[in-house]
Amino acid sequence: MNDTRQNKKKALDRIIERIDFPKDAVKKIKSAFAGLRPEEYPDDMGAFLDIKTAIPAWRGLKEKLAPDPDNMKILSLMLYALSFTYDNYQKAGIPDEIFNATIGCYNRFLREHYAGYGRWAFDRDWWTHLQIAMTIFRVGELEYEMKRDQNDKFISIHIPSDTVFTMERIKDSLARSRAFFRDYFPEYGDVEYRCRSWLLSPALKKMLPEGSNILAFQSLFDFTGEDCSSSGYIEWIFKRKYEDFRDLPEDTTLQRNLKKYLLAGNILSVGKGVLKKELLFTGQEK
Ligand SMILES: CC(C)(COP(=O)(O)OP(=O)(O)OC[C@H]1O[C@@H](n2cnc3c(N)ncnc32)[C@H](O)[C@@H]1OP(=O)(O)O)[C@@H](O)C(=O)NCCC(=O)NCCS
Repeated sequence: MNDTRQNKKKALDRIIERIDFPKDAVKKIKSAFAGLRPEEYPDDMGAFLDIKTAIPAWRGLKEKLAPDPDNMKILSLMLYALSFTYDNYQKAGIPDEIFNATIGCYNRFLREHYAGYGRWAFDRDWWTHLQIAMTIFRVGELEYEMKRDQNDKFISIHIPSDTVFTMERIKDSLARSRAFFRDYFPEYGDVEYRCRSWLLSPALKKMLPEGSNILAFQSLFDFTGEDCSSSGYIEWIFKRKYEDFRDLPEDTTLQRNLKKYLLAGNILSVGKGVLKKELLFTGQEK
């Protein structure tokens, strides 16, 4: 990791070329990187590659990089760290298609923030160490995170905002992900798939029309509970935070119905579910 400065810049450029970033965002990222000396952070870059050390590495870097307007310094270093992740993909034999799809999240997160706040800023650095440490992968329409609790290993399903959310595409993604984990992470080849999301909130059944993709998605899971601990759904549904719910936009059926529900004093829960077992058959089981 002690390349010359020029090589580091080239490594960053090669990662950026793989991502469909808006031009204005690329300018900001490159200019933040130009003001940094990545050689000052070799241990942090190394620590990012291992999930056991990635979170402390992220926290440490945040402190060292402050002030970091719009989080562009940390974004540029995370993108640079992905050049080492790419080497690890190659060593593991994981196709470029999966790498490119997985790191597409950096672009998606910038665009989501821009849609809500009109500014190219990176607000997901607390999450994107997972991509660097090869703990989460995008396979088709969904993302899959390798996790464990006290008892079990399991896969946590995440739903990107640029998904094509038809059940045909979702089921195809599920089957492909099972094959992916069997090939590259066999210790996760037979585990349960779980999901924790506002998309699984039972209250949505009263807010969404027949034929809703979200309701079809809910039917793929055995419901295991819900909690009201997060307000993150506001940004997923209304694109940004709001102080006063009376100002919430009403552009879609869900926005209109949820706004009424919230103004009546309710909270949307995060639903929890376990994917129905039959959906994980790939046809190749013994
Ligand atoms: C997952 C997602 C693609 C589903 O959208 P979808 O396929 O349109 O879902 P449905 O068919 O059930 O939509 C039914 C209605 O709700 C609206 N709706 C669904 N998700 C919405 C969202 N996130 N924001 C605003 N409206 C939404 C649809 O526009 C539609 O209303 P309309 O007929 O007036 O246009 C969408 O919710 C999304 O992009 N979410 C962001 C990612 C996310 O929340 N991930 C989970 C994080 S925990």
